[in-house]
Amino acid sequence: MTVKSVFVVGSGLMGGGIAQVCAQAGMNVCITDKSEEALKKSLDNISWSVGKFAEKGKISEDKDTVMGRIQTVSDMNPAKDADLVIEAVFENLELKQQIFSELDSVCDADTLMASNTSAIPITELAAMTSRPEKVMGIHFFSPVPMMMAVEVVKGLSTTDDTAEAGRRFVEAIGKEPIMVNRDVAGFVINRINFPSTIEAMNLVEQGVATCEDIDKGLRLGSGRRMGIFETGDMVGLDVTYGAMMACYQETGDPRFYPPLLLRRKVKAGHLGRKTGKGWYEYNPDGSRKQ
Ligand SMILES: NC(=O)c1ccc[n+]([C@@H]2O[C@H](COP(=O)([O-])OP(=O)(O)OC[C@H]3O[C@@H](n4cnc5c(N)ncnc54)[C@H](O)[C@@H]3O)[C@@H](O)[C@H]2O)c1
Repeated sequence: MTVKSVFVVGSGLMGGGIAQVCAQAGMNVCITDKSEEALKKSLDNISWSVGKFAEKGKISEDKDTVMGRIQTVSDMNPAKDADLVIEAVFENLELKQQIFSELDSVCDADTLMASNTSAIPITELAAMTSRPEKVMGIHFFSPVPMMMAVEVVKGLSTTDDTAEAGRRFVEAIGKEPIMVNRDVAGFVINRINFPSTIEAMNLVEQGVATCEDIDKGLRLGSGRRMGIFETGDMVGLDVTYGAMMACYQETGDPRFYPPLLLRRKVKAGHLGRKTGKGWYEYNPDGSRKQ
């Protein structure tokens, strides 16, 4: 199936980015959120970001044309007209299961379903539907408009045809698919990155080096565009914590256990950019405090 229309559930950091890249690729997008405020904020963010892409000549269409493909709605019913639905709500198993069950009752039998979960097994979400063979993980990286890799994850029942449709969708939005053949916590990229992320946090906790110096070292010495802590503040410390915990619980491997400093910061509500404080501190306009 060629995906021409996408329904996105959850208009936060990831859902908004997903809606944007789909609209930029010419797809019709419908996006919903339980919070009207989140939907409004998301549209503003998308509009700003599409404007930047247009200004820099990175897209051939003007902002209004792209924005004209995005519609916001307050319920799930319009999902019935979509070729693909992508769920991007909070990382909570019960919430995601409830959304998949609701989407299943609304959507056409042919509609493909995907979750952007960082760590919840796709199989457990697919089991809530009458079409587990059509459910997959489509895992984007933040910031979605900039990051090229997207993991396409097969659950236990996902068919090859569904994974192939996922691959073609990712290519159609101009990104690079990373095919993940088994539904393991953390998938592939996070699974590789987490041990070094944890080591960086341990080094800060032990007073060996500061977040600033580690990030600088990673940018200048490892060719990364952003350091571990800069990325961590954008992703959200709670999101990283949840994904590490899922890897730890599934594997029993202590290499994935979230370090003390991360656990404390999450408990204290220092979740990164979204709360104004995480590994770094931020001004209300989003700039970093020096
Ligand atoms: N933040 C990242 O860098 C990142 C990267 C990859 C994957 N993910 C995953 O993507 C998902 C979303 O993460 P995020 O960072 O965008 O979160 P977020 O907190 O920015 O946004 C979540 C949105 O879901 C909405 N929501 C909650 N319950 C809802 C419901 N019942 N119906 C509709 N909307 C609802 C919230 O109002 C909110 O706007 C999570 O599963 C997360 O693990 C996040």
